[in-house]
Amino acid sequence: MKFSEPTFEAKKFLVKQGFPESFEAAVILGSGLSGFTDSIDHPVKVPYHTIPHFPVTSVHGHDGMLISGKVRNKSVLIFSGRFHHYEGFPFSTTVLPIHIAKEFDANKVIISNAAGAVNSQFKVGDLMVIDDIFRLFQKISIKPSNTFRYNLYPVSERVRGIASSIGLDIQRGTYLYVKGPNYETKAEITAFQRLGVDVVGMSTAPELMEASRLKIPAAAISLVTNMAAGLSSGKLDHSEVKEAAESRKEDFAKLVTELIDQL
Ligand code: HPA
Repeated sequence: MKFSEPTFEAKKFLVKQGFPESFEAAVILGSGLSGFTDSIDHPVKVPYHTIPHFPVTSVHGHDGMLISGKVRNKSVLIFSGRFHHYEGFPFSTTVLPIHIAKEFDANKVIISNAAGAVNSQFKVGDLMVIDDIFRLFQKISIKPSNTFRYNLYPVSERVRGIASSIGLDIQRGTYLYVKGPNYETKAEITAFQRLGVDVVGMSTAPELMEASRLKIPAAAISLVTNMAAGLSSGKLDHSEVKEAAESRKEDFAKLVTELIDQL
């Protein structure tokens, strides 16, 4: 199926750069997680700004690169850098990676993000598979009839099983989507705890919703880069995100590799 003219043109361009006609999996890398690209075989890297219809990202820690390569001999399309709504992009742009994955017939998408822990039992550096999403302040409208139909629970069960098969103990829980870019207040985090939220972040929910609408199987992993506002004495800024991502770089790469292979 040709999704639409812009994604079709982007694909045509990428195939000319050496990308294959289809991929087995697509991976979206969250803030600070672009180190995963080091573990890809035969990489072909194309900067976002050179691709027709791709906007330019501005967030520090996102390098804006689309990569084709192999992981355990499976062909993988990797988005290193994403498009956030808080950067001013409409939701229809935040889901561009899902549209491109669809254009290349990827049969699964693995989405990752940096998130703040709301659950006080969690620690910085924890990996969490997302069981469900919570959209509080934001109506995410991509298509008027886009209802989130995913039950992420069976997939997250499998992700946990795969993680434990390689000796990784990961959390599971609910991801609260906030627009950002400012972090939450202490009062908000206290309220979110009462609502049963486990982590909070500024991405992923639109992508999961769009994957659900387009019926592409998806799994999403959060890396806890900080305790949310009021849960630790440290200051909240982007350097924490980079530090935590650096500390779990290898485990994250192992997990994503295994998910590409086995999910
Ligand atoms: N809040 C929202 N988004 C985030 C956070 C946070 O504490 N950490 C990383 N992304």
